[in-house]
Amino acid sequence: MAFSFLALAITGLLILYGKYFAMPLMGGMAYGSFLNVCKNIHNFTGPVFTICILVFFLLFAHKNLPGKGDLEWLMSFGGIFSGKHVPAGFFNMGEKFWFWFGMTFLGLVISAPGFVLDMIVPFMTIEYTRGTMQIANIIHSSAAILMSAMAMGHIYIGTIGMQGSIDGMKTGYVDATWAKEHHELWYDKLNK
Ligand code: HEM
Repeated sequence: MAFSFLALAITGLLILYGKYFAMPLMGGMAYGSFLNVCKNIHNFTGPVFTICILVFFLLFAHKNLPGKGDLEWLMSFGGIFSGKHVPAGFFNMGEKFWFWFGMTFLGLVISAPGFVLDMIVPFMTIEYTRGTMQIANIIHSSAAILMSAMAMGHIYIGTIGMQGSIDGMKTGYVDATWAKEHHELWYDKLNK
């Protein structure tokens, strides 16, 4: 999911804004060929990302339901101002928000018009007129920009912003000290 997202975000932003910064550097001819490669990477990676969203949803939806500690986490903004860790379950409220709004909602709002732009909408007959493509393009790129902006914060916390979290992502495991520090309610539950 992370690799397909990065490929889509980079190629998508190049399709949208590349003419302002990459074209003057490369020249029109080279940029044309380069963008053609970007566009093809984007068009084929899109459906892969949508499948990742569906798989992720099935794997993790039950762990993102509202639970103990969510309200406290929300009221204290995850401890960002106090500098103290707020006890959280397997996912904290911030992660749950990112799951439901960022991945599920924005993922669908990006994917549905993405399939229209790819002209491969399954189970439906669509007339791919200029108007339909324009509306799909506007919905797709607006939601994509919002998701990419939010993802920067998410990627920062998941990599250099929080020690140990990238190892959890790479291996699927975290050590007990990390679990106690960041997800104390989950740690206590496992300990019982
Ligand atoms: C989070 C992931 C994604 C981001 C950040 C993203 C971003 C973008 C952006 C900025 C554009 C350019 C819009 C324009 O030309 O004004 C674009 C175009 C497009 N996107 Fe995405 N997109 C994502 C996911 C997807 C998915 C899931 C699909 C397909 C299922 C898809 C299919 C397309 C297609 C077909 C185009 C048109 C490319 C062309 O000009 O031929 N995208 N995307």
